[in-house]
Amino acid sequence: MTRVKTAVLISGRGSNMMALLDAAKSPDHPAEITLVISNRPEALGLEKADARGIKAICIDHRDFDTRKDFEQELHAALIAHDIEFIACAGFMRVLTGGFVAKWEGRMINIHPSLLPKYKGLHTHARAIEAGDTEHGCSVHWVAEGVDTGAVIAQAKIEILPDDNPDTLAARILVQELDLYPAALAKAIRALS
Ligand code: GRF
Repeated sequence: MTRVKTAVLISGRGSNMMALLDAAKSPDHPAEITLVISNRPEALGLEKADARGIKAICIDHRDFDTRKDFEQELHAALIAHDIEFIACAGFMRVLTGGFVAKWEGRMINIHPSLLPKYKGLHTHARAIEAGDTEHGCSVHWVAEGVDTGAVIAQAKIEILPDDNPDTLAARILVQELDLYPAALAKAIRALS
């Protein structure tokens, strides 16, 4: 099996990234993760990837005057490392249409809500405030626009009466770590 050279884009602690790295250690997983890029130098995920022997670099968005300039550098780094597929995992930068067009059909993201509900931030608080009885996470293809694009896979849990945004986020994260590796494999297998 030819494995697809995959980069993971992060901004923070990198727990989803670690779940992807763990799963992709198996030669049966279709992703070969060869690169991690963070837009924030302080992202804990950079050290975690490095400790695993994965090339981990920072392209700090604050070093660029425009979003387009940042994305040009990001794209150049991906190409320089022969990357064929991108998994965004807690990557907190909105990508412009220009970048998305270059990677459309080869870039996925995980979002902590049952899309199309609750695009954007504070999804757990919004689900609780709305009185929802269930909440979840979605892995989706990246299209232009925040948290848009066809859904690949979702996981759902019950919202408990005494849940607050933190307890709900913690239970959703457990679901995310399970869902994302399988959804990445599914997305890559759908390419061929
Ligand atoms: C996850 O909940 C992800 O769905 C959201 O941000 C969080 C990132 O966590 N977009 P981590 O960096 O994977 O630990």
